[in-house]
Amino acid sequence: MSQRCLVTGAAGLIGFEVARQLALEGHAVVAVDNGSKGGLADLERLAQEQARRVELVQADLAGAFELPAGATTRSSISPRSWACAT
Ligand SMILES: NC(=O)c1ccc[n+]([C@@H]2O[C@H](COP(=O)([O-])OP(=O)(O)OC[C@H]3O[C@@H](n4cnc5c(N)ncnc54)[C@H](O)[C@@H]3O)[C@@H](O)[C@H]2O)c1
Repeated sequence: MSQRCLVTGAAGLIGFEVARQLALEGHAVVAVDNGSKGGLADLERLAQEQARRVELVQADLAGAFELPAGATTRSSISPRSWACAT
């Protein structure tokens, strides 16, 4: 079943691969990164290539951040469920 997933640090080493894999598996991905370590170009390219599935949000998560109402998080090391809001 397709899910809507939030991936933080999505321009980073781990976040980029998680976002890319989730999109390839058909999930909708909200990919958040502040660009503080570079890497946004690759993420922008992914968002263009997977325009229907990947939404890039350049934002700093150090401040207040609210998940959508009803969202839940799961703790697992599996990329399939990591950081997925249902
Ligand atoms: N890479 C590994 O092997 C490894 C192993 C164990 C733990 N970790 C941990 O996993 C996390 C991610 O690792 P990584 O290798 O992908 O790191 P990374 O530095 O490649 O990526 C982190 C990303 O987070 C973004 N970021 C930082 N602060 C932010 C903020 N306030 N708001 C929005 N975006 C922000 C950066 O711009 C960067 O793109 C880190 O906490 C790291 O310590 C990594």
